[in-house]
Amino acid sequence: MKCLRDRFGKSADKELINFVNSIDVDREMILEDIWGNEVHVLMLAKCKIIRREDAAKILKALRDLRSDFLSGEFSLSSELEDVHMNIENYVMKKVGREVAGRMHTARSRNDQVVLDIKLKLRNEILQIFNLLLRFEDVLLERAINSSNIVMPGYTHLQHAQPITLGLWFSAYATMLLRDMERLNSLYDRININPLGSCALAGTSFEIDREYTTRLLGFDSISENSLDSVASRDFIIETMSCLSILMSNLSRLAEDIILYSTSEFKFLEIPDEFATGSSVMPQKKNPDFAELIRARTGFVYGALFQILTVMKGIPIGYNRDLQEDRVMLWSSIRVVKNSLKILCKVIKRVEFNEERMLNLLHENFSTATELANYLVREKGINFRDAYSIVGEIVRKLSSKGSTFESKKLEEILREKGISAENIDDIISPEKCVLRSRSYGGTSPREVKKIVNRTKKKVSRFKRISEERRMRIENAMKLTRSEINRVMKSA
Ligand code: ARG
Repeated sequence: MKCLRDRFGKSADKELINFVNSIDVDREMILEDIWGNEVHVLMLAKCKIIRREDAAKILKALRDLRSDFLSGEFSLSSELEDVHMNIENYVMKKVGREVAGRMHTARSRNDQVVLDIKLKLRNEILQIFNLLLRFEDVLLERAINSSNIVMPGYTHLQHAQPITLGLWFSAYATMLLRDMERLNSLYDRININPLGSCALAGTSFEIDREYTTRLLGFDSISENSLDSVASRDFIIETMSCLSILMSNLSRLAEDIILYSTSEFKFLEIPDEFATGSSVMPQKKNPDFAELIRARTGFVYGALFQILTVMKGIPIGYNRDLQEDRVMLWSSIRVVKNSLKILCKVIKRVEFNEERMLNLLHENFSTATELANYLVREKGINFRDAYSIVGEIVRKLSSKGSTFESKKLEEILREKGISAENIDDIISPEKCVLRSRSYGGTSPREVKKIVNRTKKKVSRFKRISEERRMRIENAMKLTRSEINRVMKSA
């Protein structure tokens, strides 16, 4: 097979063909390339740059190609370098060079490839967005149902203060909502039509970029032909968003790993999500969570890969840009799979309420609240109250004791502080009820957090649905334009 060799005296070396082709990363964008071709050909016909009859023939060949691809009868050949040349070659075989040779008028593979990536990427971003929406529902549901359950809250992985399990679940919901906000604004920057930028300079043909923008469901037209083919910051930004998202998922995975140990025993991983050992029959391992933690590194790697590819490229298309996808599609797969499995586990995982409560009684987790009590009820300044409670903790812990109202009353009395009935103050369950500041851990506040988050989630559900519809409508419009041209030809 000969591909783009007219200028050369010799055919391409086999090693070269293997080295430069982009088949592996282009395989993911075959349907997108077909759609882009259809729209481009429709535009060429509309602008009378090619004849309607020729357009109709090409469109028919592209329709055949789509069904061949969907039934597994079309595969990409590396000798044809990339998806674009493979598709042109297919059409050429169907309708001949005289007609098919017209489809590449007024464009370049340089704008084609950005187009394909954007069409594919916006779809992927929407899928990730929808997985996050589903995950939010699960986290918020669990937060509401556990707004009364207490657990140790940690700083430095040391017992800090009692919190509600509802606060823990909703913390991840709040965190992931920011990932959705990032993806939401990223989508706007992706959904801009590069087609018509051509190789770098636009074209002398009178093309209609507004028409292709409408048919492809883009929000706007790319502003500058040179920037349009030379820039991949939308991929850097995607990888940044996905890296942050994975870092958040990895922390959740880490909590699950820790909380499922015999040392913590806060939760038990559902059997269907645990994995065993080949030799230790008792083992119940959280492999899925460990793999999320590890694959986060892969996604970070992808961010660095694309940042590094981009940093020294002179403006314009350079073949370096082909490497923009080497880790992109696989990173997206990692993110989607991680979200799917975490969502399932979080939906089902059971927490050991008794264990979490017992631990809270052991480690002075209500010490801050005791100091707050001295401030509030006894008029002591916070720093002195802190010292008093610190001293109490030192004494009790050296004897291996914990807070206990009788002993506390006694020690405080020795210091001239009358303190009766401080059971409520040192009770973790009562303690969380009092953290009623905005965004605090009390059940009342957790419910408010959940309600506020739900509102934002509903807004994102609407946006996501609108975007899906917009893409669908654009596809329908393309189909009806194709039918119109084919009928009238
Ligand atoms: N296959 C290339 C890529 O993936 C697109 C082709 C542009 N090639 C060129 N020689 N201008 O980026």
